[in-house]
This record gives sequence, C-alpha cells and structure tokens, in this order.
Amino acid sequence: MEWLYFFKGINVAAILDGKALSSRIRADLKVKLDQGINNGLPRPFLTTMQVGDDLPSTVYIRAKQRACEEIGIGFRHFRLPAETGMDALRKAVSEVNDDPSVHGLLVQSPLPSHLNEIEVQRMVAPEKDVDCFHPENVGLLYIGNARFRPCTAAGIIDLLLAYGFDPAGKNVVIIGRSVIVGRPLALMMMLKARGGNATVTVCHSRTRDLPSITRQADILVPAIGIAEMIRGDWVKEGVIVVDVGINRIPDATKKRGYRLVGDVAFREVEPKAEAIAPVPGGVGPMTVAILSRNVMNAAGYIDNYS
Ligand SMILES: NC(=O)c1ccc[n+]([C@@H]2O[C@H](COP(=O)([O-])OP(=O)(O)OC[C@H]3O[C@@H](n4cnc5c(N)ncnc54)[C@H](OP(=O)(O)O)[C@@H]3O)[C@@H](O)[C@H]2O)c1
Repeated sequence: MEWLYFFKGINVAAILDGKALSSRIRADLKVKLDQGINNGLPRPFLTTMQVGDDLPSTVYIRAKQRACEEIGIGFRHFRLPAETGMDALRKAVSEVNDDPSVHGLLVQSPLPSHLNEIEVQRMVAPEKDVDCFHPENVGLLYIGNARFRPCTAAGIIDLLLAYGFDPAGKNVVIIGRSVIVGRPLALMMMLKARGGNATVTVCHSRTRDLPSITRQADILVPAIGIAEMIRGDWVKEGVIVVDVGINRIPDATKKRGYRLVGDVAFREVEPKAEAIAPVPGGVGPMTVAILSRNVMNAAGYIDNYS
C-alpha cells in the first residue's frame, strides 16, 4: 500500500475502504462460485427472515440480497408479521432448516420484544447459522475452531489485515460488549490465530474515565451507537480507528432527511489517525461480504480462511 505511506507524510489518515475491499471479496467469491458450479456443487443459497418491518433491518437485508445476487448466491427473504409468536417462528425456521437447497439461514435482529432472541438463535440449524449466533457455533469460536466467523468482527479483522495493520501485539481497545460485535471481536482478537494475538481491553457503559483508556489504544474500535462520541482528544497520534457505529442524524440537506455518522467525530479524529474506517463505507460493507463468504462456506465452496 505505497499510497498509504505517501499520505502519512502529509498527516492525512489512510481510509480503510471497506466498500472497495468488499467489492474485491465479492468478485473473488463469484469466481469461486462459478468454478464450484462447473464442478457440480449446488448453488449456495441464503434465506433471511424478518419479524415485523423495522426499517434499518429492511435496509440491511436489501444490502445482503444485493451482495448475494452480485455473486450468484441464491436468496430468499421471508417477512413475517410483527405479531408472529414463538411457535409460528419455530415452524418457519424448521422448514428452512429441513430444506436441503438452503445453506444459510439468518433471522434478522432486532426481534420484537415478545420474542426470546436467545431461543430463536438456538432454533437455527448450527450448520446453516451463517451469523454465528447459535451456542454451538459460539462455543466452536471460543475454542478457536470456528465453523463460521461472526460477520462484523471478521469484517473488522479482514479490513485491518488487508491494509497491513495486524492486531498482533497491539493494544486494541474495543468499546461495546454486545454479542453481535464487541464480544466476538474481543475473543477473535485475543485468539492465538491470524488476526488475533492482540492485547485487548473491552470498555462499556460502566467503564470509568473512558478517554484515559482510549488514548492508550493502538487500534480503537468503537461499537457503541452514540453519534460522534469519540472526540479528537480521546485518541493518540497514529491511532488506527475502525468505527463500527451506525447512527442517523437529522440533515435537512439530504433528500431522506438524515445522514449516517459513526461513533467517532471524524473531523477531529482523522487528522491524528494513521488510518480510519469511515461511516458509511467501512465496516458495514465488510459485514455483508463476510456473510456471503459464510454462505459459500456452508455450501462447501470454501473454508474459513481460503
Ligand atoms: N457496521 C456494521 O456492520 C454493524 C454491525 C452491528 C452493529 N453496528 C452498529 O454498531 C453500534 C453498536 O451496535 P451493537 O449491536 O453492538 O449495540 P448494543 O448492543 O447497543 O451495544 C452497545 C455497547 O456500547 C456500550 N455503551 C453504551 N453507551 C456507552 C457509553 N456512554 N460509554 C461506553 N460504552 C457505552 C454498551 O455498554 P453496556 O453493555 O454497559 O450497555 C454496549 O456494550 C450501533 O451503532 C450499530 O448500528 C454496525
């Protein structure tokens, strides 16, 4: 990445461009898919399920559908009414579990509050659980033998590695301990494996004096959900920032009335950073690319690290 070093001299952070990298990943997956089909493998197929009509969920599902279609992965989405109960959802999930033509199944979160999210995660057949939420898959990840790599965490690690920023030996500060982002990322970054071997600190809403901890980060990964919370004086010179947050803030200049920002005050942090993943265009597209990889993995095309 010679251009990265060129930028370093004039104190402009390199942009960790998840949009560009995810596009290369999709192109690579398409080649593998075409080869596999020629060799007689079945077409990989992803089914998504949504209960209710949460708008951000609908947007995320559309992004997943677009990625699948571009690669050639079959895709079907089921939208169930918001009042769907556990029994009806279990029936819908088990039909997909039993369908041999479907390789990946994800039930989009968040679910309506009357549904038990943990129980729903256990309904999905582990070998189709491309989100890596089923306890069996979480356990395999924990012992360092993952069947699927959790999409957002793996997307963050692959983005860093692609730009030459190996977390090994670095002080990584993650803000957020959710089951979707913070927890699997902390685990993966401390594993004795490629993309791991970091010294990891996990912060959350009960952390005291957060800026004093973020200032020690070589790699900072905020996954909070509070717009522009991380200010310029919270980071040290040369930090690498992977902003996971996706927050809508009102913007009358936009047709849709809002724009997306991350958890990082970009204009303040970027001049101090060696590299930064922006919002949008950083982690979001990587998450979708890893999901597509996981579907191909479930269909027998690739393993986790091919
Ligand atoms: N780009 C992507 O692909 C992608 C994927 C998933 C999520 N996201 C985005 O990432 C953000 C986080 O998502 P999530 O699902 O992990 O959210 P979440 O479940 O709400 O977790 C947020 C975490 O932030 C912590 N937190 C909240 N306020 C804090 C504060 N003032 N100081 C320090 N920590 C604080 C919470 O601490 P406690 O545990 O103490 O409550 C919690 O651990 C959201 O903006 C979401 O949209 C992006």
